[in-house]
Amino acid sequence: MCGIVGAVAQRNIVPVLVEGLRRLEYRGYDSCGVAVMHRGELRRARSVSRVSALDAEVHDSHLDGTCGIAHTRWATHGAPVTANAHPILSRDGIALVHNGIIENYEALREMLRAKGYEFVSQTDTEVIAHLVHSLYRGDLFETVCDAMKQLHGAYAIAVLHGDQPHTVVGARQGSPLVVGVGNGENYLASDALALTGSTDRFAFLEEGDVVEITPESVKIVDREGLHVEREVRVVEAYGGAVELGPYRHFMQKEIFEQPRAITDTIAQANRFDPQLFGAGAANALSEIDSVLIIGCGTSCYAGLTAKYWLESVAKIPTQVEIASEYRYRESVPNPKSLVLVISQSGETADTLAALKHAQSLGHTHTLAICNVATSAIMRLTELSFLTHAGTEIGVASTKAFTTQLVSLFMLAVTLGKLRGHVEATQEAVFLAQLRHLPFALNSVLALEPQIIAWAEEFSRKDHALFLGRGLHYPIALEGALKLKEISYIHAEAYPAGELKHGPLALVTEAMPVVTVAPNDTLLEKLKSNMQEVRARGGELYVFADADTRIVNEAGIHVIRMPEHYGLLSPILHVAPLQLLAYHTACARGTDVDKPRNLAKSVTVE
Ligand code: G6P
Repeated sequence: MCGIVGAVAQRNIVPVLVEGLRRLEYRGYDSCGVAVMHRGELRRARSVSRVSALDAEVHDSHLDGTCGIAHTRWATHGAPVTANAHPILSRDGIALVHNGIIENYEALREMLRAKGYEFVSQTDTEVIAHLVHSLYRGDLFETVCDAMKQLHGAYAIAVLHGDQPHTVVGARQGSPLVVGVGNGENYLASDALALTGSTDRFAFLEEGDVVEITPESVKIVDREGLHVEREVRVVEAYGGAVELGPYRHFMQKEIFEQPRAITDTIAQANRFDPQLFGAGAANALSEIDSVLIIGCGTSCYAGLTAKYWLESVAKIPTQVEIASEYRYRESVPNPKSLVLVISQSGETADTLAALKHAQSLGHTHTLAICNVATSAIMRLTELSFLTHAGTEIGVASTKAFTTQLVSLFMLAVTLGKLRGHVEATQEAVFLAQLRHLPFALNSVLALEPQIIAWAEEFSRKDHALFLGRGLHYPIALEGALKLKEISYIHAEAYPAGELKHGPLALVTEAMPVVTVAPNDTLLEKLKSNMQEVRARGGELYVFADADTRIVNEAGIHVIRMPEHYGLLSPILHVAPLQLLAYHTACARGTDVDKPRNLAKSVTVE
């Protein structure tokens, strides 16, 4: 989604700004732009194409300067056209970039129009730029503090003023913003990743903070207007993750990184101890009587899978909610419930708001499973667990999902032990299975050539159905989501038992039906559902465990998985679905890592 970069230095900072935008590209965007102060004059370039096109434009027009801001925009208010691309200008050399949404922009626009301001874009951003101009009394930092009092919504901004050519002012309220600390130069960004290569020292701003950076100084006030210091932390290891290496796309790279990512995520576990989830976890986890899981997209599907584990292994009642529904729903809070938020980024607006909503309802026991240690969600919960997927660039989540799953399995076993449902011998078996999982997954990934052959056929289809039962129903959901988001083929998933309650009406020879077929207790039921499809001429594409006795025959295509992997089987079965989506998208020639209309980090609701 939208990305912000800002920089002030004694040298030309345009390369820093453009490189920052390049590093934020993976989040999804539809236009981009940069504005710099150049010998006291504001200059701007914008593009509705890729950052590479913007780079060429700034190069051709010799745009340079020592102080500037830049932005990738994912359209919310107004179409993705040049006039709406940021930076947005006001009078007197004010330029502003903005992430998030200003909810009261219509009222502010009317107020500003009455004062004579003319609006040239459809963005809510333009009201901030004019508001800053209307309040300016000679000090940009003070002005932004004043402007924030009038802005409602979740946002982060960075702004320049022609009167102060060596200063960038930023503010955050609901959207992330970090300060990068350099030597004789300082930076701002909505994600530390943008500044890799320029610095590894970061101060993470808190909600309501306003910051002023100059080449030599960083000044921060909190929401009360009091001067504060935010700890400067060294954040390493962002760098290598953004290199593609021998792969064609980041998604492919990330699928094949899963054995490593799982190994790193489980490395912290020699036993299933509450301490894995934070210092106070032993007490907190023994006080809870249920679990409420909240997430969006793929993270929510990880939660749906975990419900099966939590109820069967830990015997703890578990509910799963989509964050954007939960936050606006009248629910009955149970203070003894553990609120478990799952998020790759830790910045998803709805998940963050749902967590705050749960806290406002009196939930004190909260746990985050997240892939970004410094994210807002990780800072807000009582307990936390960091997945070690590493930076995930592809919009379609893969390694984040499987590392979430292993973390959730560890939570289920830990709670099972605490509640007296997992004996020492069973614990040892679970631990051994978990440790062998990366090897088992490698053998599943070796099925890629067979999956490529299927993908060729899928690339010519318009629709697909995905079936699973029990633990593997959420995996079918995830498989359908992967296919639709990157190949744009319409795909839906059903618990196989629901077929005859509607979706069977769609089944014809033209409808491929992907079936997740582990050798579990529901196998015979699933086979009956497969017969229902065959009887209507539907083509089955089955990922079947070795011992299922499902064989290739007319209308039934089988890819043989390894032997059944017990409760951890969903983690193996999702990998071929990821590969099927990936290769189908490649065959259709879509932009796999940046599918149309989608964003990686959804920082607006
Ligand atoms: C976006 C991404 C998905 C992701 C979802 C939730 O839609 O494209 O891949 O699953 O957000 O993101 P989170 O960072 O909270 O896991």
